[in-house]
Amino acid sequence: MQTEQTPVPAAGAETAAGSAPAQAAAAGGAPAAKKHHGFTSKIGFVLAAAGSAVGLGNLWRFPYLAAKYGGGIFILCYIILAATVGITLLMLEIAIGRKTGKGVLGAFASLNKKFKWLGFICLAVPIIIVPYYCVIGGWVVKYIVAFFAGSAGLVEGAGAAVDTSAYFNTFISDPWQPLIFFLIFAAATVLVVVFGVQKGIERISKVLMPLLAVISVALMVYVLCQDGALEGVAYLFTPDFSQFGYETLLAALGQLFYSLSLAMGIMITYGSYMKKDVSVSKSSLQIAICDSAFAIVAATIIIPSIFAFSADPDGALSASGPSLMFVQLPAVFNNLPGGRWIGAAFFILVFFAALTSSISLVEAIVAVLRENLHLKRWVACTVVLGIVIVLGTISSLGFGVLSGAQITLPSGSSYTILDMFDYLANSILMPIVAILTCILAGYFIDKNLIPDEIGLRRKASRGYFRVMVRYIAPVCMAVILISGIVFNLVLPPL
Ligand code: PFF
Repeated sequence: MQTEQTPVPAAGAETAAGSAPAQAAAAGGAPAAKKHHGFTSKIGFVLAAAGSAVGLGNLWRFPYLAAKYGGGIFILCYIILAATVGITLLMLEIAIGRKTGKGVLGAFASLNKKFKWLGFICLAVPIIIVPYYCVIGGWVVKYIVAFFAGSAGLVEGAGAAVDTSAYFNTFISDPWQPLIFFLIFAAATVLVVVFGVQKGIERISKVLMPLLAVISVALMVYVLCQDGALEGVAYLFTPDFSQFGYETLLAALGQLFYSLSLAMGIMITYGSYMKKDVSVSKSSLQIAICDSAFAIVAATIIIPSIFAFSADPDGALSASGPSLMFVQLPAVFNNLPGGRWIGAAFFILVFFAALTSSISLVEAIVAVLRENLHLKRWVACTVVLGIVIVLGTISSLGFGVLSGAQITLPSGSSYTILDMFDYLANSILMPIVAILTCILAGYFIDKNLIPDEIGLRRKASRGYFRVMVRYIAPVCMAVILISGIVFNLVLPPL
């Protein structure tokens, strides 16, 4: 598929090969080939990138949105958007990374010096996200322990006797417990990254991704064998066209962007570690298929189990985000035969998915610190851990001693500190980064540079890619940005 092996200089850029000695110095003397060919194999790259994409977003956000926006019709919109806008943006980011061989700061500057500042906005995204992602990761670790230990009523047969909502709220508002679990998750993430791309990220992805597939398929089969589960499957997959509308498309688009780990510097960073002989287009397709398949399997675990075992399926399904995963599902597991072990298996699944995503977020920051500040890997990891501890502690305490810092938006929603970080990153910065990346690639660099790197040979596919990058993708992202602002910051509650 590759059309070229020798890098062509980007507008105002060093070539990837030309910058190798500088990068080797930046990487603390590591050979240049290691930096550029960080992943040893195609499968290593695809599993690591899919590991980044498959995360908490697939496990709670997708099932909740699918249930809310008409089941099958939402899934259909999602798949169509993933196959068009999603793959385009994924290929674009991976190609930028591989072409320049640099982390986000260097990558944008290499393509066009005038866009160096875009690297800083892009870098801000993982810096804002990792701390709170690790806080939620910590909650997941707590639930693994709680299910295994059968503590706090999370035991088989406890059923409706246990108030899982009170359990969750008591836990997250505790001054110490969430902080301890958050530190465990953050330390585990940074530890993997300290070991480097090959020995840390690639190795763990090769183990955890197949495990993730096995656990999720086993859980899905188990849930589908329960009485009443098929009603949930029908609810999930039958398209309800009456629910199709502008919101369905908007929700599917927002989810896609979040789920594929776009506009946060990850795919650029991972792309910079990709071998030249691996096809960008085929790998992007495999990553998107893996991410979408996992989201659908997750929905097929969660929705039917709520249908089969919840006293109030509609109420349970309308609970979004953390509440679905940490309140409604534990209540379901409490009713399932063998629920304690099913609960533990489910939260281990969530843990693996969240870990492979958080390591990718950390690596995006570490790559920049190594390249631009010439820090050694372990020093860069320590700096990131410091940032994560400070911002994550603030997010975590936002549910307890700092709960007074909550704000109510004009939309009427009440935002905790964690929600504010999430909103800033996902609804504001990420769409801005995606729009500007498309503008840079579509209007300010040689038009053949990215299609050549992706390996698009046919005129029709190059033309299609160009139209997507110049017009369709930026317009879609602008719609997400504007609606995110208008529906939250401007309009009063409906
Ligand atoms: N794509 C991952 C997920 O779906 O969880 C990673 C991720 C996306 C992390 C967006 C954080 C985020 F805000």
